[in-house]
Amino acid sequence: MKRALYQRLTELYNAYVDTFREADGKLPPMMELKRIHTAHVVANARLIAEGEGFDAETTHACDAAALLHDTGRYEQLKRYNTFRDADSVDHAVFSHDIVKEKGWLDGDPHRESILAAVLYHNRRDLPDGLDALTLAAAQTVRDADKLDIFRVLEHQITTTDWRHNSQAFWNLPTTARPNPVVLDDIRSGRPVAYQDIRSLADFVLIQVGWIRNGLAYATTRRLCAERGHLAFRRDFLHQLTDDPAVDELCQYAELPTQGVS
Ligand SMILES: [Fe+2]
Repeated sequence: MKRALYQRLTELYNAYVDTFREADGKLPPMMELKRIHTAHVVANARLIAEGEGFDAETTHACDAAALLHDTGRYEQLKRYNTFRDADSVDHAVFSHDIVKEKGWLDGDPHRESILAAVLYHNRRDLPDGLDALTLAAAQTVRDADKLDIFRVLEHQITTTDWRHNSQAFWNLPTTARPNPVVLDDIRSGRPVAYQDIRSLADFVLIQVGWIRNGLAYATTRRLCAERGHLAFRRDFLHQLTDDPAVDELCQYAELPTQGVS
């Protein structure tokens, strides 16, 4: 039953993505990156659901929310030619509205939970009072998304000439030292304000902050460790700065007691 629902959802999603294909059958490259990102987020969400031992209902909500979480990215790029929400639309609201309006989840007993997980996936904090299934779906998508954002950053660093062109990193200066305000925010588990991100080191340190405090599940932290995401960031930060805070923050992130679950 759940399998059939998810299968139908996948067909609807794929048919929707196909509407953005060009005459040669290809998606514009930036959209193709989002399609690939989504496939990775779905795979990550499955690993998390499995690792956390979720029941079939919860696993279905996680799968569906992972598949749908970035639905609005295609229309966002088409309409506004950017993925920067501040210059266009909140892509989570946009995704939620498109999925709802198209009725893809009509008849799904977990429609509201899945929609909520899509809507909240990019929020700084989840609202209080979510029921257990909605909370699990929302936290799983957020963790699964972060794991893939780690992969994407590593891909960008290893495949671009970032020292000379940091376009993939908001054109941030690559040689500037980390902002002490950012270091302090991460040290004390506070969210970093975007206006405080002044260097490529700051940009990468935000992800160190996620690894320290931002992953909800033990399974996600295990996957993160197995994939070497923290080690990659520490090594890369060493290329950018000799600030001793790098080792301090990265070592602390490795302590097994970190995280909320
Ligand atoms: Fe997203």
